[in-house]
Amino acid sequence: MRWTTFALSGTFALACFAQAPVQKGKASVTKKEFGKTTGGEAVQLYTLTNANGMKAEIMTYGGALVVLTAPDRSGKFGDVILGMDDLKGYETPVPYFGALIGRYGNRIGKAQFTLEGKTYHLPANDNGNTLHGGNRGFDKRVWSAKPGPGAELHLTYVSKDGEEGFPGTLTARVVYSLTDKNELKIDYTATTDKPTVVNLTNHTYFNLAGPGEGTILGHEVTINADRFTPVDAGLIPTGELKAVKGTPFDFTKATAIGARIEQNDEQLKLGKGYDHNWVLNKGNGGLTKAAEVHEPKTGRVMEVWTTEPGLQFYTGNFLDGTLKGKGKTFVHRGAFCMETQHYPDSPNKPAFPTTELKPGQTYKTSTVYRFSAR
Ligand code: BGC
Repeated sequence: MRWTTFALSGTFALACFAQAPVQKGKASVTKKEFGKTTGGEAVQLYTLTNANGMKAEIMTYGGALVVLTAPDRSGKFGDVILGMDDLKGYETPVPYFGALIGRYGNRIGKAQFTLEGKTYHLPANDNGNTLHGGNRGFDKRVWSAKPGPGAELHLTYVSKDGEEGFPGTLTARVVYSLTDKNELKIDYTATTDKPTVVNLTNHTYFNLAGPGEGTILGHEVTINADRFTPVDAGLIPTGELKAVKGTPFDFTKATAIGARIEQNDEQLKLGKGYDHNWVLNKGNGGLTKAAEVHEPKTGRVMEVWTTEPGLQFYTGNFLDGTLKGKGKTFVHRGAFCMETQHYPDSPNKPAFPTTELKPGQTYKTSTVYRFSAR
C-alpha cells in the first residue's frame, strides 16, 4: 500500500511537469577537446542536449558527468551536480565527482575475495578494504566514446586481466542518454574472458538547489526500502539485513536529510552521517523506483529508477569545504550521492545477490535519474 502511494506521487509530479509549456528543439550531441591527462592522454567533453534544452556534459576521463541541468519550478534549467572547472581539477584528485565506478563500486572487505577456489588480492585503499575498484579504478581511466542517435553517448573501457587485482579482461560499456522526459538514463553492460566480479555504478554528487548552494540537509528523501545493510567500523556490511522501521534509516515516507542525521545512532556515527546501502523493495524486479528527492526552494524533484537491488545513499560526509569548483565551495554535506549497485562486499557475502560474472554471460543493469519540479 505504501509503495502504491509512493509510485502515484511520482506519476503526479511528472504529469504536472509535462503540462508546463516547453520549447521543443532537436536532441543533439556535440564534442570538444577537454585537455590532456598528466599521463598525456587526450580527453574529450561531450554535451548531450534533449528536445527541452536539458543538458548533460560528460568527459571521457572517468566517463564522468561534469554538468547536468534540470528544470526548477518555473521551468528554468540549472546545473544540479558538483564538478570542477577543468581536467586538472578532476585529477587533483576529487572524491569520484560524477564518475563511473568499477570494477567494483563500493567496498570489498579486507581487500580480497575468493572465486572458484582462488584468492585475489586487491589494493587496500580504504582502511584495509578496497573502495571503488582500487587505486586506479574506472573513474581514473580514459574511456573511448562514440555519440549515438539523439542525445546518446556510448563509452567503452577494456580493463586488462589482473588490473587492480581483478581476474579476467573486462569489457565495460556504458550508454548515457537524455530522453525528452528529462531523464538521464545510464545503461551498463560488461563481459569477461575469465570468472570475475563486477559492480558498476555512477558517483554523481547532487545538490538540487545547485552546486555549491549550501548543504543538502533540507532536501526531502524517500527510499523504497524496508531494510538496509548495517556496517562495521570500516563500513563493511555485517551481513545483517536490518529493518529500517523505528530507525533514522526509515525513508519510506519523505523526510528531510537533516531531520535525524545527528541522532545518537550507532550506524549514523559509523557512517559520519548516511553512508549506507539500502536493500530496495524490488517487487517483480526490472526497472523499479528506488528513491525520490525533493528540494523545497527550487521545487526540483529527482526520481531514481533502477534494475539494481541496492542503493548507496551517501550524504557528502567527507566533503569539508576544501574543494572548490564551478565558482563555489563544496561544504560539508553539500551534496548527496545515490549510487545504484549490488550490496557492498558481495564477493565475501554468499547470502547477498551475486556479483559474479562468467565468460559467455553479459552483465546488464540500468539506472534512470528522472527530473521534474513541483
Ligand atoms: C562511499 C563513501 C566514500 C565516498 C567517496 C561513497 O560511495 O560510500 O564512504 O567516502 O564514496 O566519495
